[in-house]
Amino acid sequence: MSVPWTIKYRPKNKSEYVNNFEALRKLERWLLSHKKVPRSKKAAFLYGPPGVGKTISVEVLAKEHDFDLIEMNASDWRNRASLEKLAEISSNQSTLYGIRNRILLLDELEGLSSRGDRGSIRAIVNLIKKTSHFLIFVANNAWDPKFSSFRTYCLLIRFKPIPTQSVIRHLRRICTEEEINVEDEVLHSIATLSKGDLRSAVTDLQTITQGQQYVTGDDVKWLTPRDRQKAIFDALRLIFTSKNSFEARRAIDMVDVNHEMLFEWIYENLPRQISNKKALYNGMEALARADIFMNRIKRFQNWSLLKYYLDLITIGVAMANDKRYQKWIPFKFPEIIKIMAKTFRQRKLQMKVGSLLREKCHTSSIQVVREYLPYLRIIFEHDPEMARQISIDFNLDKETIDFLSKN
Ligand SMILES: Nc1ncnc2c1ncn2[C@@H]1O[C@H](COP(=O)(O)OP(=O)(O)O)[C@@H](O)[C@H]1O
Ligand SMILES: [Mg+2]
Repeated sequence: MSVPWTIKYRPKNKSEYVNNFEALRKLERWLLSHKKVPRSKKAAFLYGPPGVGKTISVEVLAKEHDFDLIEMNASDWRNRASLEKLAEISSNQSTLYGIRNRILLLDELEGLSSRGDRGSIRAIVNLIKKTSHFLIFVANNAWDPKFSSFRTYCLLIRFKPIPTQSVIRHLRRICTEEEINVEDEVLHSIATLSKGDLRSAVTDLQTITQGQQYVTGDDVKWLTPRDRQKAIFDALRLIFTSKNSFEARRAIDMVDVNHEMLFEWIYENLPRQISNKKALYNGMEALARADIFMNRIKRFQNWSLLKYYLDLITIGVAMANDKRYQKWIPFKFPEIIKIMAKTFRQRKLQMKVGSLLREKCHTSSIQVVREYLPYLRIIFEHDPEMARQISIDFNLDKETIDFLSKN
């Protein structure tokens, strides 16, 4: 992917910000009214579901009102040392920058675990007490008990899911700027599936329109609804963190995708989640064995082997992972599914040509695609008259002719 559209089309100023105006105004008022006078609330706590503009609201306002912005997210400041360093920077450098105001943004607080990161939580409370800067925290759920020790110091600002109509309007604006033609039905599906998460809607739009001028309803069929994706994340969390086999195996019942899809999710995330080399080797070994089982199941239609496959991709991976090295790393969408989605249209058209020509050529669709398609392409490129004749003989429609003419 080139520049992610979530970056390219992020709001550059307040007027481009979508919805959540109330939250934006509340944050702005807090920043401005406390610019000079002592603050009653020392910190703000922005909370709400992912992809609704929490982080970007701070960036937009910092730019607009000329604040210095220091951003850190979970992975940067999980350890207490870096938090203390931050506290130090924040108290020392205030004078260096004169009257200029500074915001310290601690993003993605859910990355803290209530048990493992007590030190960091204490450091946060210290930071609130010591700093003379604006402190802003961000998390999905401000009511999580692990934040109770410092929530009371904060002005709570709630961000809500973006309404479907606003998501559609935002997507349409992007389509216009990108000069792509996307059916309303498609925008509607993407917006509905996003469940108010604007970031994921924009990402989905970019994924399915990649390299296409026209996008139709068929192109969105593969998208995974967000709640289903959440179930996958929960299942992955079990597989990568559970210490006992029963718990790991339970992941299978949590997800509503086929087993091979779950395999792709695990395979994509394994190297990111497991940093210890020996553990990574064991995890990969479990997946490799599972893959062999799946091949046998398919080749011999022997579904009694399925239980071994399922055990290997769940318990096999869970037991390989050495929990001592456990870190919090976000899960990643499998590349293979993205690639399949991007080439979905291409593959569908190939199979269409395959099945159109199959009978006349006395062969299989796959054979047509593999052996005839390259020659058809050459004919369509170099010999318009012959191409025209073939189109008539085989009764090809415009979409197929365009597909064959494109090289
Ligand atoms: N309210 C919004 N207005 C405009 N763009 C948004 C909004 N919410 C999300 N986005 C888009 O999604 C991306 C991620 O938004 P972000 O603020 O990081 O979400 P989060 O609520 O998870 O912090 C932004 O870069 C922007 O492209
Ligand atoms: Mg964010």
